[in-house]
Amino acid sequence: MFIASVLGKFTTSRIIVYHCFFKRKYSNSNQIFINGKSYEVDSWTNVTPKIISYIGKNLHLQKSHPLSLLRERITNFFYFHYKNNRGNPLFSVYDNLYPIVTVEQNFDNLLVPEDHVSRNKSDCYYLNSKYLLRGHSSAHENELIQSGLDNFLIFSDVYRRDQIDSSHYPVFHQVEGVRLFLRHELFSLNPDAEGSIDVFEKGVRTETKQEVHTYDAARVVEYSLKSSLTALVRHLFGQNAEVRWVDAYFPFTHPSFELEMKFNGEWMELLGCGVLEHQTLVKAGVEDKIGWAFGIGLERLAMILYNIPDIRLFWSTDPGFLNQFNVSDINTNVKYKPISIYPPCPNDISFWLPGNADEFSDNDFYDLVRTVAGDVVEQVNLVDKFYHPKKKLYSRTYRIVYRHMEKTLTQEEVNKVHRLVEEAAERSLEVKIR
Ligand code: PHE
Repeated sequence: MFIASVLGKFTTSRIIVYHCFFKRKYSNSNQIFINGKSYEVDSWTNVTPKIISYIGKNLHLQKSHPLSLLRERITNFFYFHYKNNRGNPLFSVYDNLYPIVTVEQNFDNLLVPEDHVSRNKSDCYYLNSKYLLRGHSSAHENELIQSGLDNFLIFSDVYRRDQIDSSHYPVFHQVEGVRLFLRHELFSLNPDAEGSIDVFEKGVRTETKQEVHTYDAARVVEYSLKSSLTALVRHLFGQNAEVRWVDAYFPFTHPSFELEMKFNGEWMELLGCGVLEHQTLVKAGVEDKIGWAFGIGLERLAMILYNIPDIRLFWSTDPGFLNQFNVSDINTNVKYKPISIYPPCPNDISFWLPGNADEFSDNDFYDLVRTVAGDVVEQVNLVDKFYHPKKKLYSRTYRIVYRHMEKTLTQEEVNKVHRLVEEAAERSLEVKIR
């Protein structure tokens, strides 16, 4: 069966566990146990049992899974294109790093400012004020660079609180790539230039370089980065893939870019990248290198590459899905064929927010819907909000679109789940259904 937590499988005890998580009703002695390690609960805790249940699923390592095929194809590209002078692959691959990281790993080491929105409780799954589920694979850059690596790839599951629709899921997968150069490596194609071109200077930061880098070094690294990634995208999507570079911002790279590809007539963002901020290398004990990093969302890439219409399908254990990716040659151009399409069932939910309305975040409600209704929910959209001056209350209306991946839902089945969502919302979020 594809959907794990569907209709009828919901027990009261799960509501209670969830309720506890949400209301942060833990006393000081309360702890969360994951893989034999305990985490003290505090006012930052917002991870739900449902989200914890994804730890260790490692879709990117599952045989015949589209994300695993993509991992192999990306790895092969780097193995084939980058070799050391003995002919061995230059890049080391890490694909099973533990998803619980510290705030330091996820943010501080990457120079993410204290007040940056990405640190908000409404965007991340915190175990407590010190630990969270990694929000990006960049969280591991520092430790790998510190261990002496110059060229590596990280494949990992990442966790983010976000909207619910056909292209967002709270757990998804990324590949991160890092490449560092010493001066002689950077200018190795022009050994004559090595003596006369510097990597470092005490200069000024401009749009195209950092204060510590020379213009020449920054340009060469940017060129290396862009040509590697363009080649990767052409390797996956064919030589005719139409791509363009767009300027971007990340706290730990400068200059920073995004690569977009034309897909069905529209430009789609594929990845973020840039020249690593020198300070991130210094934090890892490396002073004499310059380099680049990139991060790619694997689901986004796989959805385009294999025509997969809905991100929930990646979690399917249905052989009708997985067998389509059971190919002997990983470069096979699989085009996913939907088994069938079942009708969507939209149902609205309207409620008054509690007195402390400004503490309410849409993501609190999205998480609750995920936990209570599971993968039977295709989308949740905020359709209306207003303030009632007489009642002095704020109102929210969300449209929940229920759609099963494998069968037609009856209105009766939908009503049952919808009622559970309403009950859980009243209990956990202290809202009043209208
Ligand atoms: N970690 C960034 C993200 O998840 C992507 C990124 C990786 C950007 C490496 C620059 C360099 O959005």
